[in-house]
Amino acid sequence: MTAQRLRIAIQSKGRLSDGSLALLERTGLKFRRGRDNLLMRVEDMPIDVLFVRDDDIAHFVADGACELGFVGLDTLSEDGLDQPGRGVEVVRPLGFGHCALKIAVPNGMAYAGAGDLAGARIATSFPNLLQRFLDANGVAATVVEMSGSVEVAPRLHVAQAICDLVSTGATLEANGLKAVETVFESEVVLVRATRELDPDVAAVRDRFLRRIDGVVATKGAKYIMLNAPKDALPAITELLPGAGSPTIMPLAGRSDAVAVHAVCQESVFWETLERLKAAGASAILVLPIEKMML
Ligand code: PRP
Ligand code: ZN
Repeated sequence: MTAQRLRIAIQSKGRLSDGSLALLERTGLKFRRGRDNLLMRVEDMPIDVLFVRDDDIAHFVADGACELGFVGLDTLSEDGLDQPGRGVEVVRPLGFGHCALKIAVPNGMAYAGAGDLAGARIATSFPNLLQRFLDANGVAATVVEMSGSVEVAPRLHVAQAICDLVSTGATLEANGLKAVETVFESEVVLVRATRELDPDVAAVRDRFLRRIDGVVATKGAKYIMLNAPKDALPAITELLPGAGSPTIMPLAGRSDAVAVHAVCQESVFWETLERLKAAGASAILVLPIEKMML
């Protein structure tokens, strides 16, 4: 029998697929994808990547077809798979695919608050999340379920309002709609199966998770190097954004100054550099970080 492989489900095509593939590429896995492939074999680790519809990803993980998945929190939550005991567990947010599920109405419609939705028909592909919002706000409205192209519902007189994902807002604008309520904030998360895995597969999974951690942790992280007068050291280390404990090293031929190296987990802005300089730092270098293992 051939060795078992770890299976990871990602979206085949749509908003999340480019980001999912880009993230996988940054983990350093070697793979080739043909044009119509449903499955991609990783060459240097026993991992298969399955390209599936986003609605199926979490269910595949829960039902045993896959061990890991990259899925929108919106879909996970709509299907109730974010609840305990459903066979799926969120490991971590992946830092991309941010969007919000919003209620939108035609631009010309007056809107003062959720109460204005009473008696309305609202078209959506997320009936559960919408119903939860309506219940929480004590609004009695009719949820009209559509599998896609929700934004055309008002023009078709199928509904007076819609509840759909908004990322740039371009779709709403193109359809003469304005967002009036935020129902759910979403981003892509990594989910894992809660069932016990074959020890070899579990080991591959843990190795993959460490790589994902390394990739996600480096997002926005920078390596800062600077020279600091010894007496300004406390003020300067205080200014380093999200740095933990920096490395302090002697500078050849200087007894009054030291070199400071630090990994900053937060964005380093020009303002930060200006403040460091004002505090006495010099020769400040900010370098990108490619990989990290903590
Ligand atoms: C979502 C949503 C809107 C669009 C919003 O669709 O349903 O159509 O993205 O994005 P925007 O605010 O940047 O315009 P998605 O791409 O998930 O495809 P689908 O509607 O076919 O599911
Ligand atoms: Zn859409």
